[in-house]
Amino acid sequence: MAAERRPADMVRITTPELAQAFIDEQIKEIREQVGDKKVLLALSGGVDSSVVAALLIKAIGDQLTSVHVNHGLLRKGEPEQVIEVFQNQMKANLVYVDATDRFLDKLAGVTDPETKRMIIGGEFIEVFAEEARKLDGVEFLAQGTIWPDILESEEGIKAHHNAGGLPEDLNFELVEPIKILFKDEVRIVGEQLGLPHGMVYRQPFPGPGLGVRCPGAITRDRLEAVRESDAILREEFAKNGLEGKVWQYFTVVPDFRSTGVKDGKRAFEWSVIIRAVNTNDAMTATVENIPFDLMCHLVERITHEVPGVNRVLYDFTPKPTGTIEFE
Ligand code: XMP
Repeated sequence: MAAERRPADMVRITTPELAQAFIDEQIKEIREQVGDKKVLLALSGGVDSSVVAALLIKAIGDQLTSVHVNHGLLRKGEPEQVIEVFQNQMKANLVYVDATDRFLDKLAGVTDPETKRMIIGGEFIEVFAEEARKLDGVEFLAQGTIWPDILESEEGIKAHHNAGGLPEDLNFELVEPIKILFKDEVRIVGEQLGLPHGMVYRQPFPGPGLGVRCPGAITRDRLEAVRESDAILREEFAKNGLEGKVWQYFTVVPDFRSTGVKDGKRAFEWSVIIRAVNTNDAMTATVENIPFDLMCHLVERITHEVPGVNRVLYDFTPKPTGTIEFE
């Protein structure tokens, strides 16, 4: 069995060699734990679940079934990247579920942020459980729990969001191969496993996804405006050397319209708010000083390329008083 706790004298994984030693050891331990049985994994495409998937594919190949639930609130290109990396390149046994309509129908008209979160979380478990029941003979559930998750749940800071939540009939034994690692170690292990750099070093992205960046009741057209403007922001940050430098950056499209003018006609449309912040622990955050020329270029692109948008605003608010997300 894998270590339950991070050994006090464990050397921090900082090099490809140390990462490889960890990978070799985990492959052995996973094989010992799982034998010839089947394992299930919810693969979001985030750093932790992606690294667990890559590790398990190496250890047990197609004994692993990964389920990627697209809740319709992912960023542009994310589901495609999961399919490309895991199904096409790593030859994983991947079940892709496009549950967009289910999620958006349930969320229709819901304005309260915490209710939105509960609906998204609850529906996710339901969709995943349905897929799990379709599979025969699965005995294990793999999870991307990492060491800070365990420490924070022990300290009562946050509930360990990975653990549990599945209905009682799905009583799996857990496989948690990266649970003694810190986040920076997970990334190094991920690169050593051959995952794309952009996937392993991507900025934090909340579980409820773009749903909390489309404040109030989510509508498909406003959600598309969030997704498209976010894609432009990410593209421009990458081009201008800000990717990997700024901790988290995204766009928000609030539910109000203002008067503007487009092609000589009155345009009563939405505003896109840009948020770009730096932090160490997400408890406090400062605002990134985006160069003025880049800001003007972002305004130009977003107002011309994103349907239904006539203004772009920049959020200068640190945390506190603002939180990083808007909901
Ligand atoms: P706030 O908005 O609280 O965000 O300043 C701090 C960090 O947490 C992320 N965040 C979430 N992550 N589920 C998540 O998995 C959530 O519901 C959620 N809400 C906020 C946020 O993106 C930021 O990195």
